[in-house]
Amino acid sequence: PIPLIIDTDPGVDDAVALVLALRSPEVDVRAVVAAFGNVGLDRTLDNARRLVALAGRPDVPVAAGAARPVVHDRPVRAAEVHGDDGLGGLAHTLPDRVPLDPRPGIDVMTDVLRAATEPVTIASIGPLTDTALLLATHPELVDRIGRIVVMGGAIGAGNVTGAAEFNVYADPEAAHRVLAQAEVPVTLVPLDLTLRCAVGEERLARLAAGDAVCHRLDALIEPYRGWYRRTHGMDGVPLHDAVALLEAIVPGTLRPTSLSLQVACDLGPARGATVPDHGRTGAPVSPPVDVALDADVPALLDAVLTRLGAP
Ligand code: BDR
Ligand code: CA
Repeated sequence: PIPLIIDTDPGVDDAVALVLALRSPEVDVRAVVAAFGNVGLDRTLDNARRLVALAGRPDVPVAAGAARPVVHDRPVRAAEVHGDDGLGGLAHTLPDRVPLDPRPGIDVMTDVLRAATEPVTIASIGPLTDTALLLATHPELVDRIGRIVVMGGAIGAGNVTGAAEFNVYADPEAAHRVLAQAEVPVTLVPLDLTLRCAVGEERLARLAAGDAVCHRLDALIEPYRGWYRRTHGMDGVPLHDAVALLEAIVPGTLRPTSLSLQVACDLGPARGATVPDHGRTGAPVSPPVDVALDADVPALLDAVLTRLGAP
């Protein structure tokens, strides 16, 4: 199995993504690092520990990542989407937390990389702060990372501002660090695709008909689904992070387009935008990354459900 580190901010779609990875035989989840994001670090860390318990995997280390962005301290939250507790008000209904790994999240990541005998995949499904800090502070370990799969960015409209997607907006300087380096291949899974991967009524019913863990996930999704229904008129529910995790679990699931992207890091209205650089004004500033703009969506959603254990 592919060794995997998950950098996350649970979050309802993070919850599905975490259980998806922990139930997929193709990957070996070596660490979960929870950072600020959808809600504050205290909550996301608590949620990550409960979700790893829910998946029945107390062997997986869960550690604390960043509490705030690298440079600009105006953290954004998404409690209106995910609930004040990050899990639709239902975090307290989940099993007791697995123990907290006392090491800083970055140290857990570096220990996993040092011990690995095969290239490690990093799935970054929250603000990119810890993944960026890892690249910045441990260049000697970069060649142990096989690929970084990021849920983030938007080529079209954003979901925080007209320009910016949440995970990039939450720490644009960190996203720049990850997207502007050429040493580790990056697959970016942007909003453009994840919004097309909404899980509809029929598949949600299949999830609910699964085992007790599937049933819990379905319950967590319900209030989050209500938010998308009220604000976007959507019937289905986009599980952004699960789409990115599936690509980490089964490489090649998504269809990539190679694009050079620049992250807008100024403090104006474009902050957090991921802007394609077509090289018309000279050579592109950033190396190309694989931007997953397309996929066989029904097949992808079925693959997520099957791995979760839904009938
Ligand atoms: C991303 O933002 C968060 O709210 C979700 O968990 C996902 O990672 C979608 O823009
Ligand atoms: Ca997330």
